[in-house]
Amino acid sequence: MAVTAAAIRTAQRVDRFTYAIRNIVAEARKVEATGTTVRYLNIGDPNQFGFLTPPHLIAAVEKAMRDGHNGYTASAGIAEAREAAAADFVARGVNVSADRVLITSGTSEGIELALTAIVDEGEEVLVPSPTYPLYTAVLAKIGARPAYYRTDHNNEWLPDLDHIKSLITNKTRVLVVIDPNNPTGAIYPDAMRKALIALAESHGLVILADEVYGDLAYDGPVPPMAALDNDAPIISYSSLSKAYLAPGWRAGWMAVGSSPRLDGALAAIKKLADGRLCSPGPMQYAVTAALTGDRSHQVAFRQQLRERAELTATRMNAIPGVSCVAPKSAFYAMPKVDLPPGKTDADYVLGLLRAKGILCVYGSGFGTAPEEGFFRIVFLASPRELNAIYDDVDEFTRAFRSA
Ligand SMILES: Cc1ncc(COP(=O)(O)O)c(C=O)c1O
Repeated sequence: MAVTAAAIRTAQRVDRFTYAIRNIVAEARKVEATGTTVRYLNIGDPNQFGFLTPPHLIAAVEKAMRDGHNGYTASAGIAEAREAAAADFVARGVNVSADRVLITSGTSEGIELALTAIVDEGEEVLVPSPTYPLYTAVLAKIGARPAYYRTDHNNEWLPDLDHIKSLITNKTRVLVVIDPNNPTGAIYPDAMRKALIALAESHGLVILADEVYGDLAYDGPVPPMAALDNDAPIISYSSLSKAYLAPGWRAGWMAVGSSPRLDGALAAIKKLADGRLCSPGPMQYAVTAALTGDRSHQVAFRQQLRERAELTATRMNAIPGVSCVAPKSAFYAMPKVDLPPGKTDADYVLGLLRAKGILCVYGSGFGTAPEEGFFRIVFLASPRELNAIYDDVDEFTRAFRSA
């Protein structure tokens, strides 16, 4: 048989797919190859900065493995984890039963399942700008379009409701709400959350409530959005990744709200979930342990995050030409640097990487305009290290802006 030498063609959807948080690592590796040490502030993984997974979660996974729970589970997850997640939602004011909960490979898989189940090709999803980039990445895969709605750094990074309204068309299906927010660290007041629910309701939209940072608000856990209106079509998400310090386990859960309007979506999500068999089995036992066991590690973690957030905002605001809204939750800040004419956020971030070996992610990787000059910092390093890093950011920024 004749053999062709032609390279294998790849699908066009890959051209539309970007994920700046990881893509930019390729640039960092090049800098490392020149002998420079790179300090990675690009990825929100607490384990990489010495925050350890609580031992009782590790014990639960180990026990599950030793007890022989190494086979496939039911595709929606083991009953006890679904029940624990449902009970946790109920305790937080969301009336949801275990049969409406799925255990997923992190929030990420739950997001992909819901968007795939609900949104057809050519339809639109309202996504915040800046956004966590998984949303736009999934939309690229399923052939749907993001409609970026503004969240305003001059207004504590709150969503601009009029802008959202102006974007809604007859193709809009879903409103994504990330609260507490990555990359901005914002928390939305109840009035804003209610207004978002009302807006979604008036246009028949489903809300995807991404609440992976809900327990990492510095003043204590933020209730799920669905607790404000149990009849609204809201799908709520969380995971072990952030507040339980186990991102590599890929263990998350989603609750499809109790509104009967979501019954079809729930069935569609379960149908898709069957196709991937299950999320990692032993880790599902840790979901039960996390949601029914000791959470005292979160108290210390929140305190450490608050200290780092305050340090970050103070140091950034002290740099001429830089402004930073103080985060209220999680471990991200999104400062803005006034760029010299013609420069982009990527010029700034890559310049910082090459000059100082500090890796942040440019705002345009999260959907902001390149000339706006936003960049995201992950501030999980120790305050001492952060201070040294911010000295370098300060020095570089002054030079960059005056060049
Ligand atoms: C807002 C947001 N949603 C979802 C995720 C993905 O979380 P998981 O590890 O649970 O898939 C992240 C991870 O950084 C995130 O920041």
